[in-house]
Order: sequence, then structure tokens, then C-alpha cells
Amino acid sequence: MLDQLKIVEDEGLKALESVQDEAGLEAWRVAHLGRSSGLMQVFAKFGQLSKEEKPAVGQRANEVKKALESGFEAKFAGLRQAALKRSLEQEQLDVTLPGRRLPLGRLHPDTQTMRELYSIFGEMGFQVFRSREVETDEYNFQLLNFQIGHPARDMQDTYFVEAGERGDNPIVLRTHTSPGQIHAMRWITAMNPENPAPVRIVLPGMCYRYEQVTNRHETQFDQLEGLAVGPGITFSDLKGTLANFARRMFGQNTRTRFRASYFPFTEPSAEFDVECFLCGGAGCAVCKGSGWLEIGGCGMVHPVVLRNGGYDPLRYSGFAFGLGPQRMAMLRHHIDDIRYFWQNDLRFLEQF
Ligand code: PHE
Repeated sequence: MLDQLKIVEDEGLKALESVQDEAGLEAWRVAHLGRSSGLMQVFAKFGQLSKEEKPAVGQRANEVKKALESGFEAKFAGLRQAALKRSLEQEQLDVTLPGRRLPLGRLHPDTQTMRELYSIFGEMGFQVFRSREVETDEYNFQLLNFQIGHPARDMQDTYFVEAGERGDNPIVLRTHTSPGQIHAMRWITAMNPENPAPVRIVLPGMCYRYEQVTNRHETQFDQLEGLAVGPGITFSDLKGTLANFARRMFGQNTRTRFRASYFPFTEPSAEFDVECFLCGGAGCAVCKGSGWLEIGGCGMVHPVVLRNGGYDPLRYSGFAFGLGPQRMAMLRHHIDDIRYFWQNDLRFLEQF
């Protein structure tokens, strides 16, 4: 028996040396530690031994079992280690490869333009004032000096939210940001009606008009309204503010031009042009050969509007302007179709 155990041990450990991989190791385990292995045959015959033989054989058999088992463990750990080393060698890190790009979100070109405008006007002392997109006819038109049936209402075809019982004051989607002028003035004059504080604000936001959609017109678009009210504000303040704005927005040498126009809520009124920054005034496709780009409307706040806002037009005056941020973004980035702005097409948005 003891001889047999010696053979089992020697053969087992010898065979283990030539095991190359985990599959071979498993086969080895079945052969040398499994139910029909030589070792187990010794254990099976253990009962037939005499009392005197049992302790020595038992002790030896356990020693052999331990030796084979720890041989197995060591081999197993060795194979694992080798496999790991091999895979590390194969999967070397190539530090010269370009990194993987994380998909990053970005600001919409319209938001970018808006923020640029806030910062330019912010430096000139204008605060941002937001007002509602859903308005009453009263705020959108009447308080801005568009009487009911006023022909100038035709300039801004209107979406009606609720007409029905409301007679002359239907609820509308604002057609421009100008109703915010009244909200802002009333808010400020309510705090001190006798001696209201001056105003210097920009009013950004979406406007809606019932328009035929083309590459130049959308039913939804942004405006940036400006409003300054105070004692002794003149048209030259308006010109200076917009000329300064144009230089900051389009470049130090940008010239500006004002053309007489009409809005019910300003008097006098003007359209505001900047010299085409693409051709420098020489004339090109973008400015349609004129050398000038139309940027917005402006004027001195009409006395009726000042009074509707709570300011005494004999003591206060003011100017207002309305700019088209999308139009500026289009000019600047050569975007030839306004419909791109709200189509959520990534091929467009990723360019900014
Ligand atoms: N609200 C006018 C428009 O949408 C623009 C404007 C604003 C004109 C302020 C003058 C003063 O056409």
C-alpha cells in the first residue's frame, strides 16, 4: 500500500509538470484526484487493512492527497498568472492614439447670439427684462398706440389664442417684444408714481406672426427689444447706443445708417442699417448690392406710450429699438434659410 501511494504521488506530481493550460489541469484533476484515481482506490481499500497497518497508511494517504491538492492549487495560480501576463502584453496601451471624443452638447446659434447681445448691452448698462409670450390685444397693440382697426396692425398678422367673448381684447401670441415695454414701465412706475426711476433694459424673447413660411420668414422668431426712459433722453442717445452696439457686434469700423420709418409707438421712427460687414459696403449678394444690412426698427418712445407706462411725457422721454437676433446670426454665419433654426437638424446645429 505504501509503495502504491509512493507511485501515485510521484506519477501525479510528474504529470502535473507537463500540464500546459486550464483544460489540461482539469483533466489532470479528474485523473489524479477524481473518483477513479489511484489515490481514491487506496482510500477505497482502506477498510480491508489490519489494525496495525491502518495508522501509517492513513497518514501517508492524507499526505499524498495534500501534496497533490497543493500541487494543483499552485499550478492553477501559475496558469492564471501567465494568462494575465500574456493578455497584458497583447493589449498594450498605445499612448499615441488620439483620445476618444466625448459627445458634448453646445449652445444653439440663436442662444449664442442672444448671450452676446446681453453682454454688449449689459456693458452699456442695460438689464434683461423678460415678459410673457401670451398677451392681450391691449398690451400687444392698444397700449402701444395701435387703435382698434389701426392699419399698422396689418404689419403684424396675429395668432389669436382666445377671441370669443373677449370683444376688443382677445388673447394673442405676442407679435413683437414691444408689449414688454408697457409691463416694464408699469412695474417701475408703480413703485414710485410721482418720481419714477429711469429705465434701461433689453427685452428678449420669442414672437409669433401668422406668416407664409419662406427662407426669410418664420412664424416664430426672436426679438431683442431695447428701452431707455429718463429725463432728457434724445434721439442722439439712441443713435449713439445703436452705433456703439454695431461696432461691438460687427467690428470697430462698422458704419450705421438710420432711415425714416413708421411705428405707432415711436415718434420719430427709423429703420436701422449697418454697413455690410461681408463686402465692407461695396455691394455683394448678402446685402443685395446695396452695401447695407437692415438690422431692426427704432425710435423715440411715443408720448402716448410713455403715459400708458406711467411716465409723464413732459418730464420724461425715451428711446426704443427692436433687433432681430436670428437675422444677425444668419448674416454673420451665411445661413441662407431661417427655417434651419428650429428644425433641430444636428447637421446644422453641430456647425456652431
Ligand atoms: N416692434 C417693432 C417690430 O416688431 C420693432 C420696434 C421696436 C420698432 C421698438 C421701434 C421700437 O417691428
